[in-house]
Amino acid sequence: MIRFDVAAHPGARAYKLLAGLVVPRPIALATTIDAEGRTNAAPFSFFNVMGTEPPMVVLAPSDRDDGTPKDTAANLILNGECVIHLCDEALAERMVACARSLPAGESEIEKGRFLTQKAEKVRPPILTECPVALECRVIDIRYYGENRLVVLEVLLAHVREGVADPETWKVDYKNYVPVGRLNSPDGYVRTVDRFRMDFPKD
Ligand SMILES: Cc1cc2nc3c(=O)[nH]c(=O)nc-3n(C[C@H](O)[C@H](O)[C@H](O)COP(=O)(O)O)c2cc1C
Repeated sequence: MIRFDVAAHPGARAYKLLAGLVVPRPIALATTIDAEGRTNAAPFSFFNVMGTEPPMVVLAPSDRDDGTPKDTAANLILNGECVIHLCDEALAERMVACARSLPAGESEIEKGRFLTQKAEKVRPPILTECPVALECRVIDIRYYGENRLVVLEVLLAHVREGVADPETWKVDYKNYVPVGRLNSPDGYVRTVDRFRMDFPKD
């Protein structure tokens, strides 16, 4: 095994190695709203579901190079509300287009040509075409050095018809093929190649 002293090289080098190795990662496309009520959308792959009592996801929107929080982080600090979307391949390019940093007042949602609808429990909009939209509110924001972890409670899930059974809540993967993040800046994976393994029996 070759040693990589990540603790001695935090930041860009550690990112290249760790974010390249810990893959594939799910991608959250988060909509938020700013102080003027303008909507914002951006993708984040430092993201995952972290618990279910309460239902909880964690997101890590960092600062920009100039040290100011990205819009998503600033909006979550300000009002604590977002909608997290999962995207399939049909939406992947539009999801990535939302990573462009636009001048304040220009909306990635319009640039991504996403249709929107009102959420029920939070103010940011739902992107209607996404197979999954999770209405979330901030439980906690934690800082570890330069890392910002936003802990979110999932208040309500909207799932495209056919993706989850309304009775059993079981997900049907025939109808759900989200994309994941591989290497930055341009590597992605499809989730089409699946296999099963029995859970170990005692
Ligand atoms: C697939 C993908 C995943 C990303 N993951 C993250 C992430 O986890 N954390 C982060 O700070 N930026 C991430 N980015 C970059 C942000 O999306 C980008 O900086 C964006 O402009 C932030 O927008 P905002 O200022 O509107 O929040 C990612 C970009 C892409 C395309």
